[in-house]
Amino acid sequence: MKLQQLAEEKVGFLIIFTVIVISFGLLIEVVPLFGTKAVIEPAPGVKPYNALQVAGRDIYVREGCYNCHSQMIRPFRAETERYGHYSVAGESVYDRPFQWGSKRTGPDLARVGGRYSDEWHRIHLLNPRDVVPESNMPAFPWLARNKVDAEATVARMKALRAVGTPYSDEELQEAPEMLTNKSELDAVIAYLQGLGLALKNVR
Ligand code: HEC
Repeated sequence: MKLQQLAEEKVGFLIIFTVIVISFGLLIEVVPLFGTKAVIEPAPGVKPYNALQVAGRDIYVREGCYNCHSQMIRPFRAETERYGHYSVAGESVYDRPFQWGSKRTGPDLARVGGRYSDEWHRIHLLNPRDVVPESNMPAFPWLARNKVDAEATVARMKALRAVGTPYSDEELQEAPEMLTNKSELDAVIAYLQGLGLALKNVR
């Protein structure tokens, strides 16, 4: 029996052939990326998140900010004019899990670092309507009341180190001090203010 006949007459073979063809496509498209420097190495100036930012990033994920905010500037004029340099893979090497997304109820946040003052973020997160009257972003008042959990954050940094983020022993030792008496609001703001700085002034 010819291959063609097998594929047309026996559905089991059709499935097997289909899987082979798709896997081959994946091999060619995806596997070379595992060794591509621009993808696996940090872009110039990109550093691992410090302890406070790690805590902030976890709160960002916990609160579901990604449901309304992407962190991925696409390489189109309309996007780069508004947000700055398009996102490159080397900016996300320390993002586990990455926050690219595509849902934009609110603006993209990939380069929001430094766009506003800490005070602006403070007011905005506690009640967005105080600074943007037409905003439909929810308020997050509990962030100011909750303290950051230092122990949990250090454990997360250790986990990140285990999967490849190059934290030094000193950084882990100094982490609890950096987190003393910090609110979750401080942490989220530290995280937001660090986003996208490496390529901020590149046009
Ligand atoms: C229901 C959707 C929604 C959620 C959830 C949400 N936002 Fe927003 N966000 C918006 C909208 C809409 C705007 C634009 C209006 C404004 O500035 O408030 C915005 C604006 C912002 C801005 C200003 C961006 C800029 O460039 O002007 C920041 C920073 C921000 N959000 C952070 C957050 C963080 C942090 C969280 C999670 C704690 C969050 N948002 C959750 C909808 C959302």
